[in-house]
Amino acid sequence: MPYAAITGWGHYAPERVIPNTELEQMVETNDEWIRTRTGIQRRHVVAPGQATSDLATRAATVALERAGLQAADLDLVIVATTSPDLLLPSTAALVQTKLGAHNAGAMDMNAACCGFMYALSAASAMIKGGGVQRILLCGAETISPYINWQDRNTCILFGDAAGAVVLEASDKPHGLHAYRLGAIPNTAEMLWIKAGATLNPITHASLDRHENCIQMNGSEVFKHAVRAMVDASLDVLKQVDCNPADIDLLIPHQANLRIIEAVAKRLELPLERTVINIQEYGNTSAASIPLALAEAADAGRLHTGDKVLLAAFGGGLTWAAGFLTWGGR
Ligand SMILES: CC(C)(COP(=O)(O)OP(=O)(O)OC[C@H]1O[C@@H](n2cnc3c(N)ncnc32)[C@H](O)[C@@H]1OP(=O)(O)O)[C@@H](O)C(=O)NCCC(=O)NCCS
Repeated sequence: MPYAAITGWGHYAPERVIPNTELEQMVETNDEWIRTRTGIQRRHVVAPGQATSDLATRAATVALERAGLQAADLDLVIVATTSPDLLLPSTAALVQTKLGAHNAGAMDMNAACCGFMYALSAASAMIKGGGVQRILLCGAETISPYINWQDRNTCILFGDAAGAVVLEASDKPHGLHAYRLGAIPNTAEMLWIKAGATLNPITHASLDRHENCIQMNGSEVFKHAVRAMVDASLDVLKQVDCNPADIDLLIPHQANLRIIEAVAKRLELPLERTVINIQEYGNTSAASIPLALAEAADAGRLHTGDKVLLAAFGGGLTWAAGFLTWGGR
Protein backbone atom coordinates (compact mmCIF):
# COMPACT_ATOMS: atom_id res chain seq x y z
CA MET A 1 0.00 0.00 0.00
CA PRO A 2 2.46 2.68 -1.12
CA TYR A 3 0.01 5.58 -1.42
CA ALA A 4 -2.03 7.78 0.95
CA ALA A 5 -5.25 8.65 -0.91
CA ILE A 6 -7.81 11.26 0.14
CA THR A 7 -11.01 9.22 0.49
CA GLY A 8 -13.20 11.68 2.41
CA TRP A 9 -13.63 15.42 2.70
CA GLY A 10 -15.84 17.85 4.56
CA HIS A 11 -16.08 21.45 5.62
CA TYR A 12 -17.98 23.59 8.06
CA ALA A 13 -18.29 27.32 8.64
CA PRO A 14 -20.21 28.80 11.56
CA GLU A 15 -23.66 30.25 10.84
CA ARG A 16 -22.94 33.84 11.91
CA VAL A 17 -21.82 35.94 8.95
CA ILE A 18 -20.23 39.39 9.07
CA PRO A 19 -20.61 41.18 5.72
CA ASN A 20 -18.27 44.02 4.80
CA THR A 21 -21.08 46.49 5.42
CA GLU A 22 -21.12 45.50 9.11
CA LEU A 23 -17.39 46.29 9.36
CA GLU A 24 -18.18 49.77 8.00
CA GLN A 25 -19.91 50.38 11.35
CA MET A 26 -16.81 49.31 13.32
CA VAL A 27 -13.80 50.87 11.53
CA GLU A 28 -13.15 53.46 8.84
CA THR A 29 -13.48 51.21 5.81
CA ASN A 30 -16.00 50.42 3.12
CA ASP A 31 -17.31 47.47 1.17
CA GLU A 32 -15.83 48.73 -2.11
CA TRP A 33 -12.29 49.03 -0.62
CA ILE A 34 -12.41 45.58 0.94
CA ARG A 35 -13.76 43.92 -2.22
CA THR A 36 -11.27 45.52 -4.59
CA ARG A 37 -8.20 45.17 -2.33
CA THR A 38 -8.92 41.66 -1.02
CA GLY A 39 -11.83 40.01 -2.87
CA ILE A 40 -13.56 39.39 0.47
CA GLN A 41 -17.31 40.06 0.77
CA ARG A 42 -18.10 38.39 4.09
CA ARG A 43 -16.61 36.09 6.72
CA HIS A 44 -18.09 33.57 9.16
CA VAL A 45 -17.45 33.82 12.89
CA VAL A 46 -18.18 31.49 15.79
CA ALA A 47 -21.08 31.86 18.22
CA PRO A 48 -20.26 32.30 21.92
CA GLY A 49 -19.12 28.96 23.32
CA GLN A 50 -18.22 27.52 19.92
CA ALA A 51 -14.54 26.55 19.70
CA THR A 52 -12.09 25.18 17.14
CA SER A 53 -12.76 21.54 18.07
CA ASP A 54 -16.50 22.08 17.39
CA LEU A 55 -15.78 23.34 13.87
CA ALA A 56 -13.29 20.53 13.24
CA THR A 57 -15.72 17.89 14.51
CA ARG A 58 -18.47 19.10 12.16
CA ALA A 59 -16.15 19.02 9.13
CA ALA A 60 -14.70 15.65 10.23
CA THR A 61 -18.12 14.03 10.58
CA VAL A 62 -18.88 14.80 6.93
CA ALA A 63 -15.41 13.63 5.83
CA LEU A 64 -15.85 10.29 7.64
CA GLU A 65 -19.27 9.80 6.05
CA ARG A 66 -17.84 10.43 2.57
CA ALA A 67 -15.04 7.96 3.27
CA GLY A 68 -17.59 5.40 4.48
CA LEU A 69 -15.72 5.03 7.77
CA GLN A 70 -16.64 5.00 11.44
CA ALA A 71 -14.67 7.18 13.84
CA ALA A 72 -13.45 3.99 15.53
CA ASP A 73 -11.69 3.01 12.26
CA LEU A 74 -9.22 5.90 12.60
CA ASP A 75 -5.62 5.37 13.69
CA LEU A 76 -4.77 9.04 14.16
CA VAL A 77 -6.49 12.43 14.40
CA ILE A 78 -4.43 15.49 13.44
CA VAL A 79 -5.68 19.05 13.75
CA ALA A 80 -3.71 21.78 12.00
CA THR A 81 -4.51 24.95 13.90
CA THR A 82 -3.03 28.12 15.23
CA SER A 83 -6.09 28.82 17.41
CA PRO A 84 -6.48 25.73 19.65
CA ASP A 85 -9.33 25.31 22.14
CA LEU A 86 -6.79 25.10 24.96
CA LEU A 87 -3.02 25.14 25.38
CA LEU A 88 -3.32 21.68 26.91
CA PRO A 89 -4.51 19.18 25.75
CA SER A 90 -4.37 19.36 21.98
CA THR A 91 -7.49 20.26 19.98
CA ALA A 92 -7.07 16.89 18.23
CA ALA A 93 -7.55 15.12 21.59
CA LEU A 94 -10.87 16.95 22.03
CA VAL A 95 -11.95 16.11 18.47
CA GLN A 96 -11.00 12.47 19.06
CA THR A 97 -13.32 12.41 22.08
CA LYS A 98 -16.18 14.26 20.36
CA LEU A 99 -16.07 11.90 17.38
CA GLY A 100 -15.66 8.75 19.48
CA ALA A 101 -12.42 7.90 17.64
CA HIS A 102 -11.30 5.82 20.61
CA ASN A 103 -8.68 3.81 18.69
CA ALA A 104 -6.89 6.89 17.40
CA GLY A 105 -3.92 8.88 18.62
CA ALA A 106 -4.26 12.66 18.54
CA MET A 107 -1.96 15.59 17.91
CA ASP A 108 -2.02 19.19 16.72
CA MET A 109 0.32 20.82 14.22
CA ASN A 110 0.92 24.55 13.97
CA ALA A 111 2.48 26.13 10.92
CA ALA A 112 -0.02 29.02 10.86
CA CYS A 113 -1.81 29.27 7.49
CA CYS A 114 0.48 26.53 6.11
CA GLY A 115 -0.56 24.14 8.88
CA PHE A 116 -2.73 21.94 6.69
CA MET A 117 0.03 21.58 4.09
CA TYR A 118 2.66 20.68 6.67
CA ALA A 119 0.27 18.20 8.31
CA LEU A 120 -0.77 16.69 4.96
CA SER A 121 2.91 16.09 4.15
CA ALA A 122 3.53 14.46 7.53
CA ALA A 123 0.33 12.39 7.51
CA SER A 124 0.95 11.11 4.00
CA ALA A 125 4.50 10.09 4.93
CA MET A 126 3.24 8.27 8.04
CA ILE A 127 0.78 6.24 5.98
CA LYS A 128 3.32 5.54 3.26
CA GLY A 129 5.74 4.42 5.98
CA GLY A 130 3.22 1.76 6.99
CA GLY A 131 2.84 2.76 10.64
CA VAL A 132 -0.79 3.87 10.29
CA GLN A 133 -3.57 3.14 7.80
CA ARG A 134 -6.22 5.83 8.30
CA ILE A 135 -5.74 9.42 9.39
CA LEU A 136 -8.29 12.16 9.90
CA LEU A 137 -6.67 15.49 9.13
CA CYS A 138 -8.53 18.69 10.01
CA GLY A 139 -7.54 22.27 9.36
CA ALA A 140 -9.61 24.32 11.80
CA GLU A 141 -9.42 27.87 13.08
CA THR A 142 -11.28 30.23 15.38
CA ILE A 143 -9.41 33.41 14.56
CA SER A 144 -12.13 35.91 15.53
CA PRO A 145 -11.17 36.14 19.25
CA TYR A 146 -7.65 37.15 18.13
CA ILE A 147 -8.87 40.03 16.01
CA ASN A 148 -8.68 43.62 17.15
CA TRP A 149 -12.00 44.77 15.72
CA GLN A 150 -10.72 48.36 15.76
CA ASP A 151 -7.75 47.57 13.49
CA ARG A 152 -8.84 47.96 9.86
CA ASN A 153 -5.56 46.43 8.64
CA THR A 154 -6.52 43.03 10.01
CA CYS A 155 -10.20 42.88 11.00
CA ILE A 156 -11.37 42.82 7.39
CA LEU A 157 -9.29 39.78 6.47
CA PHE A 158 -9.95 36.79 8.69
CA GLY A 159 -12.75 34.31 9.37
CA ASP A 160 -13.49 31.08 11.28
CA ALA A 161 -14.01 27.68 9.60
CA ALA A 162 -12.83 24.10 9.31
CA GLY A 163 -12.04 21.63 6.58
CA ALA A 164 -11.18 17.96 6.96
CA VAL A 165 -9.89 15.09 4.87
CA VAL A 166 -9.57 11.36 5.51
CA LEU A 167 -6.34 9.81 4.26
CA GLU A 168 -6.17 6.07 3.71
CA ALA A 169 -3.46 3.64 2.66
CA SER A 170 -4.11 2.68 -0.95
CA ASP A 171 -2.52 0.72 -3.75
CA LYS A 172 -3.97 3.18 -6.28
CA PRO A 173 -1.60 6.00 -7.23
CA HIS A 174 -3.57 8.78 -5.53
CA GLY A 175 -2.71 11.30 -2.85
CA LEU A 176 0.28 13.56 -2.23
CA HIS A 177 3.24 12.75 -4.50
CA ALA A 178 5.52 15.72 -3.84
CA TYR A 179 5.80 18.63 -1.44
CA ARG A 180 8.11 21.45 -0.47
CA LEU A 181 7.98 23.17 2.91
CA GLY A 182 9.86 26.26 4.02
CA ALA A 183 10.07 29.21 6.38
CA ILE A 184 11.67 32.63 5.90
CA PRO A 185 14.04 33.51 8.76
CA ASN A 186 13.60 36.71 10.80
CA THR A 187 10.05 37.39 9.67
CA ALA A 188 8.12 36.39 12.81
CA GLU A 189 7.10 39.97 13.59
CA MET A 190 5.51 40.50 10.17
CA LEU A 191 2.49 38.45 11.20
CA TRP A 192 2.08 37.53 14.82
CA ILE A 193 0.11 37.45 18.05
CA LYS A 194 2.73 38.94 20.30
CA ALA A 195 1.30 38.26 23.76
CA GLY A 196 -0.50 35.38 25.40
CA ALA A 197 2.07 32.60 25.59
CA THR A 198 5.45 31.98 27.24
CA LEU A 199 7.50 34.81 25.73
CA ASN A 200 5.06 37.61 26.54
CA PRO A 201 2.40 36.53 29.02
CA ILE A 202 -0.77 38.62 28.99
CA THR A 203 -0.58 41.74 31.14
CA HIS A 204 -2.94 44.71 31.47
CA ALA A 205 -0.44 46.74 29.44
CA SER A 206 -0.20 44.18 26.62
CA LEU A 207 -4.00 43.94 26.50
CA ASP A 208 -4.22 47.72 26.24
CA ARG A 209 -1.83 47.52 23.26
CA HIS A 210 -3.96 44.72 21.70
CA GLU A 211 -0.91 42.46 21.67
CA ASN A 212 -3.20 39.46 22.25
CA CYS A 213 -4.48 40.05 18.70
CA ILE A 214 -3.06 39.50 15.22
CA GLN A 215 -0.70 42.25 14.11
CA MET A 216 0.57 42.32 10.56
CA ASN A 217 2.64 44.21 8.02
CA GLY A 218 0.28 43.55 5.13
CA SER A 219 2.28 44.87 2.20
CA GLU A 220 5.48 43.01 3.21
CA VAL A 221 3.55 39.77 3.74
CA PHE A 222 1.93 40.26 0.34
CA LYS A 223 5.28 40.45 -1.48
CA HIS A 224 6.74 37.42 0.27
CA ALA A 225 3.53 35.47 -0.28
CA VAL A 226 3.44 35.72 -4.06
CA ARG A 227 7.13 34.94 -4.51
CA ALA A 228 7.16 32.01 -2.05
CA MET A 229 3.99 30.37 -3.38
CA VAL A 230 5.20 30.58 -6.97
CA ASP A 231 8.71 29.31 -6.20
CA ALA A 232 7.39 26.44 -4.05
CA SER A 233 4.88 25.48 -6.75
CA LEU A 234 7.52 25.43 -9.48
CA ASP A 235 9.79 23.32 -7.26
CA VAL A 236 7.05 20.77 -6.69
CA LEU A 237 6.11 20.64 -10.37
CA LYS A 238 9.75 19.99 -11.21
CA GLN A 239 9.84 17.11 -8.73
CA VAL A 240 6.98 15.37 -10.54
CA ASP A 241 8.11 16.42 -14.02
CA CYS A 242 4.95 18.42 -14.77
CA ASN A 243 4.29 21.81 -16.31
CA PRO A 244 1.70 24.23 -14.96
CA ALA A 245 -0.30 23.44 -18.12
CA ASP A 246 -0.69 19.84 -16.86
CA ILE A 247 -2.46 20.98 -13.68
CA ASP A 248 -6.22 20.43 -13.55
CA LEU A 249 -6.83 22.51 -10.43
CA LEU A 250 -4.83 24.96 -8.33
CA ILE A 251 -6.02 25.18 -4.73
CA PRO A 252 -4.23 28.14 -3.16
CA HIS A 253 -4.41 29.45 0.38
CA GLN A 254 -7.14 32.09 0.40
CA ALA A 255 -5.56 35.23 1.88
CA ASN A 256 -6.19 37.87 -0.75
CA LEU A 257 -7.72 37.56 -4.23
CA ARG A 258 -4.91 39.71 -5.63
CA ILE A 259 -2.33 37.26 -4.25
CA ILE A 260 -4.22 34.33 -5.78
CA GLU A 261 -4.46 36.11 -9.14
CA ALA A 262 -0.77 37.02 -9.11
CA VAL A 263 0.25 33.42 -8.31
CA ALA A 264 -2.03 31.97 -11.00
CA LYS A 265 -0.76 34.49 -13.54
CA ARG A 266 2.90 33.75 -12.84
CA LEU A 267 2.19 30.03 -13.09
CA GLU A 268 0.27 30.71 -16.30
CA LEU A 269 -2.78 28.95 -14.91
CA PRO A 270 -6.18 30.37 -15.89
CA LEU A 271 -8.44 31.38 -13.01
CA GLU A 272 -11.05 28.86 -14.25
CA ARG A 273 -8.63 26.20 -13.02
CA THR A 274 -8.11 27.93 -9.66
CA VAL A 275 -10.35 27.46 -6.63
CA ILE A 276 -11.46 30.79 -5.19
CA ASN A 277 -13.85 31.05 -2.25
CA ILE A 278 -12.27 33.97 -0.38
CA GLN A 279 -15.35 36.09 -1.11
CA GLU A 280 -17.39 33.95 1.29
CA TYR A 281 -14.93 33.13 4.10
CA GLY A 282 -11.98 35.54 4.07
CA ASN A 283 -8.70 34.10 5.30
CA THR A 284 -9.39 31.06 7.47
CA SER A 285 -5.70 30.24 8.00
CA ALA A 286 -5.07 26.48 8.30
CA ALA A 287 -8.70 25.76 7.37
CA SER A 288 -8.42 27.58 4.06
CA ILE A 289 -7.03 24.83 1.79
CA PRO A 290 -9.12 21.88 3.09
CA LEU A 291 -12.21 24.11 2.99
CA ALA A 292 -11.50 25.07 -0.64
CA LEU A 293 -10.68 21.47 -1.51
CA ALA A 294 -13.89 20.14 0.04
CA GLU A 295 -16.00 22.78 -1.71
CA ALA A 296 -14.31 21.98 -5.03
CA ALA A 297 -14.95 18.25 -4.56
CA ASP A 298 -18.60 18.88 -3.64
CA ALA A 299 -19.00 21.07 -6.72
CA GLY A 300 -17.75 18.23 -8.95
CA ARG A 301 -14.55 20.07 -9.83
CA LEU A 302 -12.33 17.10 -8.88
CA HIS A 303 -12.26 13.84 -10.83
CA THR A 304 -10.32 10.65 -10.27
CA GLY A 305 -6.75 11.10 -11.47
CA ASP A 306 -6.91 14.90 -11.59
CA LYS A 307 -3.60 16.63 -10.96
CA VAL A 308 -3.94 19.16 -8.17
CA LEU A 309 -1.45 21.80 -7.06
CA LEU A 310 -1.74 23.18 -3.52
CA ALA A 311 0.14 26.30 -2.40
CA ALA A 312 0.16 28.19 0.88
CA PHE A 313 1.98 30.75 3.00
CA GLY A 314 1.43 32.17 6.44
CA GLY A 315 2.84 33.35 9.76
CA GLY A 316 6.42 32.32 10.35
CA LEU A 317 6.64 33.29 7.60
CA THR A 318 6.06 29.74 6.41
CA TRP A 319 5.41 28.60 2.86
CA ALA A 320 4.44 25.29 1.26
CA ALA A 321 3.32 23.61 -1.94
CA GLY A 322 2.18 20.12 -2.78
CA PHE A 323 1.17 18.05 -5.78
CA LEU A 324 -1.50 15.37 -5.47
CA THR A 325 -3.65 13.25 -7.67
CA TRP A 326 -7.27 13.05 -6.69
CA GLY A 327 -8.61 9.69 -5.65
CA GLY A 328 -12.16 10.28 -4.54
CA ARG A 329 -14.02 7.11 -3.62
C1 LIG B 1 -3.71 44.03 4.04
C2 LIG B 1 -3.89 44.36 2.57
C3 LIG B 1 -5.27 43.96 2.10
C4 LIG B 1 -3.73 45.85 2.37
O1 LIG B 1 -3.87 46.16 0.98
P1 LIG B 1 -2.81 47.12 0.29
O2 LIG B 1 -3.24 47.26 -1.11
O3 LIG B 1 -1.44 46.56 0.54
O4 LIG B 1 -3.07 48.45 1.04
P2 LIG B 1 -2.02 49.34 1.85
O5 LIG B 1 -1.65 48.66 3.12
O6 LIG B 1 -0.92 49.73 0.91
O7 LIG B 1 -2.90 50.57 2.16
C5 LIG B 1 -3.40 51.45 1.15
C6 LIG B 1 -4.23 52.50 1.81
O8 LIG B 1 -5.46 51.95 2.27
C7 LIG B 1 -5.64 52.21 3.66
N1 LIG B 1 -6.32 51.06 4.27
C8 LIG B 1 -5.78 49.98 4.90
N2 LIG B 1 -6.75 49.17 5.31
C9 LIG B 1 -7.93 49.74 4.94
C10 LIG B 1 -9.27 49.36 5.09
N3 LIG B 1 -9.62 48.22 5.70
N4 LIG B 1 -10.21 50.15 4.57
C11 LIG B 1 -9.90 51.29 3.95
N5 LIG B 1 -8.62 51.73 3.78
C12 LIG B 1 -7.65 50.95 4.27
C13 LIG B 1 -4.25 52.39 4.19
O9 LIG B 1 -4.24 53.15 5.38
C14 LIG B 1 -3.57 53.11 3.05
O10 LIG B 1 -3.93 54.47 3.10
P3 LIG B 1 -2.84 55.60 2.74
O11 LIG B 1 -2.47 55.33 1.30
O12 LIG B 1 -3.60 56.85 2.96
O13 LIG B 1 -1.71 55.38 3.67
C15 LIG B 1 -2.82 43.62 1.70
O14 LIG B 1 -1.55 44.19 1.93
C16 LIG B 1 -2.73 42.17 1.99
O15 LIG B 1 -3.68 41.42 1.77
N6 LIG B 1 -1.55 41.68 2.45
C17 LIG B 1 -1.37 40.31 2.74
C18 LIG B 1 -1.94 40.02 4.08
C19 LIG B 1 -2.13 38.57 4.32
O16 LIG B 1 -2.36 37.83 3.40
N7 LIG B 1 -2.01 38.15 5.56
C20 LIG B 1 -2.26 36.83 5.95
C21 LIG B 1 -1.17 35.93 5.54
S1 LIG B 1 -1.59 34.26 5.76
